[in-house]
Amino acid sequence: MIESRPTIFVTRKLPDNVESRLVRDYSARLNDDDRLMAGDALVAGASGADGILACTTERFSADVISRLSESVRIIATFSVGYNHIDVDAAKDRGIVVTNTPDVLTDATAEVAMLLMLGAARRAYEGERLVREAKWATWSPTFMLGTQLTGKRLGLLGMGRIGQATAQRARGFGMEVHYHNRRRLPSDREQGAEFHENLDEFLTQIDVLSIHCPASDETYHLLDGDRIARLPAGAIVVNTARGEIVDDNALIGALQSGHLRAAGLDVYENEPNLDPRYRTLDNVFLMPHIGSATDETRDAMGFRALDNLDAYFSGEEPGDRVV
Ligand code: 8YV
Repeated sequence: MIESRPTIFVTRKLPDNVESRLVRDYSARLNDDDRLMAGDALVAGASGADGILACTTERFSADVISRLSESVRIIATFSVGYNHIDVDAAKDRGIVVTNTPDVLTDATAEVAMLLMLGAARRAYEGERLVREAKWATWSPTFMLGTQLTGKRLGLLGMGRIGQATAQRARGFGMEVHYHNRRRLPSDREQGAEFHENLDEFLTQIDVLSIHCPASDETYHLLDGDRIARLPAGAIVVNTARGEIVDDNALIGALQSGHLRAAGLDVYENEPNLDPRYRTLDNVFLMPHIGSATDETRDAMGFRALDNLDAYFSGEEPGDRVV
C-alpha cells in the first residue's frame, strides 16, 4: 500500500492503459507531446520527482545522473535493455534501476523469425516489386531465396529471447546451435547444441540471430573477422542492439555476397542508421519494433509500474538491476 502519491517523471508518451494506471496511483508528469528529451531537459523534467519512468530513447549518462534531483530514488525503464543508463553511476548515487524482462520475450522472438524469413525469402524485393507494379511474370527461376527448413540456426545469447526464438525455429525445422556465457541445463537447451567457443560456433551455422545484451564486452562483437568465419551465404539477424554489430563489416559482407542477406530491427545510432543499408536489396529492415504490439507494450508499462509500486511500498522491486 502506497501511503502518499509519489511524483513520477514519465519521459515518453506511454500506452493509454499504462498512463491511466499511472495517473490513478501517482502524481504523474506525463509527456503528452511525446517530445524527445536529453541532458538538461531530463534533469529539469525530473526536478523534485521521486522516480522516473524512462525509455531507451533517453540516455542517463553518469553526468545526467549526477545532476538529477536528490529526490529521485528510482529509474524504472520501460525496456528489458538498460544500456542507456549508466547503472554504476546510479548505484553510486543510491538510485535503484529496474527493467521489464519476460513480457517482451515472445514479441521479440516473433520479430526474429520475421527477419529470418524476410531475409531468406527476399521479402523487401518481393514487396517492392508488387507495390511498385513491377512484377511482370512468374518464372521457375524468379526471386529464388533460400529456405529455413533444415538450416542451422546459431543463437548468439541464449537468455529468454534466445530460447523463445529457438522454440519457434524448431517449428520451422531448423537445427538449433547456441553460444552463451554459460551452458544451459538440458531442460532449457531442448536439444540445442552448445558451442563454448564463439569463433568455432560461427563456422557451424547458416543463420546467426543475435540475442545478447549490449555492453562494453559485446560492442562490435560481430566484426569483420567474425563475419568472415560465417559460411559463405550465411544470414545475419539482429533484434538485440545495433552496437553489437560493426556496420562497416556487415555492409561489406552484404555487398561482396559473402553474406546472402541480413534482417535488422536495431541499429547503432538509431534512428540514424548507416545510410548504406538503405541501398542494399539483400537487407530486410525494420524500425526497432521487437516489442511493438498492443499486448506487449501494455505489459511492459504494467511491469515498470509493478516495480515502482513495490519500491514505493517499501518492498524489493521484482526486476531490480542495481
Ligand atoms: C523497446 C527494447 O522497444 O526493451 C528493450 O530493450 O529494445 C525494445 O523492446 C524499447 O527499447 C522501449 O523502450
